[in-house]
Amino acid sequence: MNGPHREIRVRAASRLGYRPTMAAPHPLPPRLDLGDVILRRFRTEDAEELRDAVAASYDELHPWMPWASAPPNLEDQREFIDRMSQWPSPGGSFAYGIFSAGKVSGVVGIEDRVGPGALEIGYWRRTGAGGRGIVTRAAGAVTAECLRLPAIGRVEIHCDASNMASAAVARRLGYRLDRLESRQPSAPSESDVMQIWVAETAPPHVPA
Ligand SMILES: CC(C)(COP(=O)(O)OP(=O)(O)OC[C@H]1O[C@@H](n2cnc3c(N)ncnc32)[C@H](O)[C@@H]1OP(=O)(O)O)[C@@H](O)C(=O)NCCC(=O)NCCS
Repeated sequence: MNGPHREIRVRAASRLGYRPTMAAPHPLPPRLDLGDVILRRFRTEDAEELRDAVAASYDELHPWMPWASAPPNLEDQREFIDRMSQWPSPGGSFAYGIFSAGKVSGVVGIEDRVGPGALEIGYWRRTGAGGRGIVTRAAGAVTAECLRLPAIGRVEIHCDASNMASAAVARRLGYRLDRLESRQPSAPSESDVMQIWVAETAPPHVPA
């Protein structure tokens, strides 16, 4: 979601003549309350906590996330927060931190790079925060908010065909597998096939 990989995607999108929809008529809510977890935009002072969450989860993130090619440093987290905490943002990106008991338990990112009328979401979860469905519930809430934006009729999840845990989140939320695309792997466990999952209506209630 961040780092050179994202820049390549943004440049590729502009080469195709697509410009991010920066003029969303109203912003995404800065905070979503899911009961035991809160989704909220990051603040500058979250940088250390975010760095610690990425560091604690590095062994799970490194195989799948191109931006986790090396252990995190504070400067990268500050840059990520600067870039991802306003919507609409110049780069068409936003991230909700998933906070549980005040700690970063994961992230759901939103990218405006998949064409008009559509947004892409991506996610990761802190190591040790599994088993409660926090990512499924967070990604479901974010999907619903994206689809509430007047110009948006489709939300996509792009997931490596080998990443069963990520595909399970999309499937649990009722996303439909729209197509497969071939691509160059950009993280160690990635294959050369990307699944594109699509939601056009808000996910039904996710069981507690
Ligand atoms: C992909 C990733 C976020 C999935 O995490 P996860 O812990 O499986 O997802 P959730 O937090 O939604 O938890 C789901 C689990 O909670 C359980 N659960 C409990 N309550 C639940 C609820 N109310 N709703 C949904 N699931 C619930 C599910 O049954 C599931 O259990 P299982 O793992 O035994 O099948 C995680 O593996 C990860 O961070 N991977 C590295 C980064 C990555 O690959 N990101 C995706 C890139 S496309």
